Amino acid sequence: MKTNITINAENGFPYLGNGINFTEELFGIKFDANLIQKTSELIWQPNSTLCRSTAKPLPAPFNVISDLAGEMTVHLNGKTGLIGKKALFKEVASLDSSLMDNFIGHVKNHVKNPTEESAHLIADVRCWTSWLANGIKIEPIFNGEKTACSFIPWPLSGLLLLSSRIIGQQPEFEYAADYVLRSGILPDTNVSLSDNNDTIVEYIRSIKPVVSFHDIDKNEQGFRMTHLAMENTSKAMIEGALNAVNKQNFSENIDNISEALHLSNKIFNCMWKVSDPDLYNKEVRIFIQGLYGNQGRIYDKKGLFFDQCGDTYDEKYDSKGCYLSNLHGQTGANSSYHPLGDEITGVGKYTKAYEYDEVDSIIIENILENGFVSDECLKSRDCEIDSLTKLLKSFRVGYRPPAHHALIVKTKDAIEHSSFFNDVEGNDSTKRQLANSVRWLIQHRIDHYKMVVSYILRSPDPYQHQTKAKGTGGSPTPSFLPKMFTNSIDRLEELVGNSNIEWADDLISITKDHKEAMNRFKKIALQVEKEDSQKNRSLS
Ligand code: HEM
Repeated sequence: MKTNITINAENGFPYLGNGINFTEELFGIKFDANLIQKTSELIWQPNSTLCRSTAKPLPAPFNVISDLAGEMTVHLNGKTGLIGKKALFKEVASLDSSLMDNFIGHVKNHVKNPTEESAHLIADVRCWTSWLANGIKIEPIFNGEKTACSFIPWPLSGLLLLSSRIIGQQPEFEYAADYVLRSGILPDTNVSLSDNNDTIVEYIRSIKPVVSFHDIDKNEQGFRMTHLAMENTSKAMIEGALNAVNKQNFSENIDNISEALHLSNKIFNCMWKVSDPDLYNKEVRIFIQGLYGNQGRIYDKKGLFFDQCGDTYDEKYDSKGCYLSNLHGQTGANSSYHPLGDEITGVGKYTKAYEYDEVDSIIIENILENGFVSDECLKSRDCEIDSLTKLLKSFRVGYRPPAHHALIVKTKDAIEHSSFFNDVEGNDSTKRQLANSVRWLIQHRIDHYKMVVSYILRSPDPYQHQTKAKGTGGSPTPSFLPKMFTNSIDRLEELVGNSNIEWADDLISITKDHKEAMNRFKKIALQVEKEDSQKNRSLS
């Protein structure tokens, strides 16, 4: 449990150890916000959204965990894995309790002396246990039952809870960190803008998953590894911005930002070739359902029961533990790539995602304490905000690695405390490149919306459990996605709206077509939302 939580913005937007402080005690181990931030920074690369090292098979005695997760994949080298045979829960329930004693010893040493090695073992335990926990939750649904498993057995419950708290994430499977960033092995080669789509597809297929729910070389692999390949362009984008802030090879570095965003978009559009939209709800989305809002209907009303992790006695499980409920589900919105792109290009001035106010303090406090903030709580403090703001603000602290949150804040601060935007906008060639960068963010958002329509809204849902008009993160997609799009368009218009130059006209005409397309997508999404609510699915 966290105590002595303090939040202030004296040194800019708060992050753990810088404006956010607390102490925490779990399983007799005491630690604080500084230790969590330090641990996270030992796990994630500086100036990139990638991790320092992909999750590795665990050393003894924890190897049973990674071995089991390696066996769970439904389609596994021509065999049916544990989830497909509905045999995973039984295996997980027989894990030996001594694993937790052993892990507590390891964490105690880490708290005393955090090293890259000790942080990586904790991160790996967290990654593998979160995959296993999600596997057992969804196993019944995948096998035709109506409700998911809401019981996380000991010692999996303890291992997942403790490892998550030490690295500063929710004790739940997390889309960006676990599904994408820490669980795919990138090849030594890279792709560039001059590569054609076939080469990019080959590259995506060459990224090997270390663990999977459904498959290792088909739709799930394609979906996750397309995303990972996009994130692999983050270093060029971030370092481009930071070098330009320091006036190093200014024009070249501004070009690097726009090239990275362009390449990321080119890779994104290969998704259609590697992950079939018609099978998305069936093979991919079902495995990343969350606990929040309508997605939570597949779980017990009280939420997930973490066996032996608290003092609440539950008759059904005949055990003491704690309930965790209302955690947001997994979604690309956990990714830090586009929030970084927004701050670097000035779109952030319109999203206002990293401008601190009273609402931020309430949200941060509630996310740290409970994992979510309720509408009632916001109302009682006279803060009513739309679902977009609520979701994005909630995700910053607790739903993305603390190192990523700090990276976004530090990048924004570096830009703000320099003449970056004045320098870029004062020169026609660099202004054009910045406008191009905004264009690729707009392009991403329009292509992304196209995917939401094809992959979620128009794709069959064989389980009849998924709320199509609500994202797995819990936001209503029809209003969420167009809003981010509009913010990006506003920034482009601010940059080039009044210019009478040919390249500016070209960019503005692209956005005109996009605006019309976005309105068409919005109509489709609103229609699906209506159908959902007609089916009596509450969409609050
Ligand atoms: C088939 C592919 C995809 C689908 C169906 C999809 C779906 C969604 C949905 C429904 C949301 C709304 C939030 C919520 O879940 O409640 C969302 C948000 C978001 N997604 Fe995706 N997503 C896809 C791929 C990706 C990929 C590959 C990325 C790569 C970074 C990504 C990045 C984002 C971001 C950054 C947001 C926040 C909104 C924004 O900044 O524009 N998504 N996505």
